Amino acid sequence: MTKSAVLILLGPPGAGKGTQARMLEEKFGLVQLSTGDLLRAAVAAGTDAGKAAQAVMSAGGLVSDEIVLAILKDRMAEPDTAKGVILDGFPRTEGQAAALDDLLAAQGQSIGAAISLDVDDAAMVERVSGRYTCANCGEGYHDSFKQPAVAGVCDKCGSTEFKRRADDNAETVTARLEAYHKQTAPLITYYEGKAVLSRVDAMGEIDRVAADLAAIVTRVTG
Ligand code: AP5
Repeated sequence: MTKSAVLILLGPPGAGKGTQARMLEEKFGLVQLSTGDLLRAAVAAGTDAGKAAQAVMSAGGLVSDEIVLAILKDRMAEPDTAKGVILDGFPRTEGQAAALDDLLAAQGQSIGAAISLDVDDAAMVERVSGRYTCANCGEGYHDSFKQPAVAGVCDKCGSTEFKRRADDNAETVTARLEAYHKQTAPLITYYEGKAVLSRVDAMGEIDRVAADLAAIVTRVTG
């Protein structure tokens, strides 16, 4: 796979971007690049960017383009991204999308596919509020939809420690959904105009959604 394999996963909170990005990472050897994860790491590290982002994230709003683009560019400059990247949760505004176009053009790259995970808003609050992850390896689980094979033990690494995100409560999820529809959903039209948009029904079971995504990625990278 070449460096030109740049894939974008679009979708509201709970659509399955992280779940599917991790599966594509394993299947295709791509690198998942989640701006949400990068921002949470900056918050945990107490950097200036993290301090500025924390309150916005807690309220369910979008962090400024300036901060997000700075951390995204730093991450894209790391050598492992040469394997190709799955952008999970980026871009989220038209400003970010335009900046990504410029960044890729400067590197002689282009977007392989922007894939919209289409879901019903009403189901997303349940999906997000039931979510938890392995505290050691980050594997994602859900109280109802995806439990470890052995209760309390991570399938991937065997850890017995799990955690839940601070912004995964009904009030903040509602604000995050609003931010998605107002600022991010217009990117569906943006990428349609560039003839790189694909749409996947992401209300089905995780493995079925994964199969639909794998077909798109195979077409784009094959
Ligand atoms: P971020 O971390 O990106 O969160 P998000 O977009 O709200 O998305 P989520 O992580 O909640 O959901 P997901 O689609 O990954 O779903 P998942 O696979 O976990 O962003 C957090 C915050 O950071 C933002 O609010 C913002 O403040 C800031 N931020 C981040 N990027 C930014 C940017 N570019 N610009 C500005 N600000 C930015 O699945 C959810 C659950 O459902 C899991 O438990 C999973 O097991 C389950 N599940 C998944 N698929 C299915 C299925 N098909 N059926 C049943 N259950 C399923």
